[in-house]
Amino acid sequence: MNNSWNKVIYKIWSPIYDKIFNSYLFLNARRRIFEEISFNSRERVLFVGVGTGADLELIKHFDLEITAIDLSTDMLKKAMEKYENTSITFLEMDAQNMEFNNESFDYIVGSLVLSVVPDANKCFQEMIRVLKQDGKIIIFDKFISKNKQLSLPKKLLRPFIRVLGTDIGLRFEDLYRRHDKNLKIVEDQSIMMNGMYRKIIICK
Ligand SMILES: C[S@@+](CC[C@H](N)C(=O)[O-])C[C@H]1O[C@@H](n2cnc3c(N)ncnc32)[C@H](O)[C@@H]1O
Repeated sequence: MNNSWNKVIYKIWSPIYDKIFNSYLFLNARRRIFEEISFNSRERVLFVGVGTGADLELIKHFDLEITAIDLSTDMLKKAMEKYENTSITFLEMDAQNMEFNNESFDYIVGSLVLSVVPDANKCFQEMIRVLKQDGKIIIFDKFISKNKQLSLPKKLLRPFIRVLGTDIGLRFEDLYRRHDKNLKIVEDQSIMMNGMYRKIIICK
């Protein structure tokens, strides 16, 4: 995956994305991600790779300061159309090189984005950098299940699925290990498909 290809592939996904990734199974999973999260008034929340804004529908955003970034103009356009009369700030930005100061946000939301960006480590590092001390990162994504190897069918499918814009072979533990000195996992649970999709909440 690289940024140029992601722009192409998410231009193609944008008209149909919500029909698949914002309905049924995925919508239920998203509801479970946010049901127990209570943001406080005026908190600053960053949505990384916001896409069509599927997560935004599930939070009460009126008294939050929300910024939402994405690399794809087309995905971002879909989100902006849904939220044109709100105070949400939408920005076209590379999640691997964010244009924010250190410690800018109380919450960072990364749904289905670490498995999509070309360099998940860089993206995760940026999420940590722009998160305030005591802030939280909320991750909803697919990773290799804990203590398991990628199965042979998935190994064979992985290159094809990458062409479609996502990686099924990312191990969260490898990503986290590089940064764990400054972080604490406060929640890590299976949310869908036998632990392939997880809800992970990290505190700085
Ligand atoms: C699978 S979609 C997830 C969208 C949304 N977060 C959701 O949960 O539905 C991945 C998103 O990441 C965006 N993306 C890919 N590479 C990116 C990058 N380098 N920086 C920011 N966003 C990126 C894509 O354009 C796409 O909108």
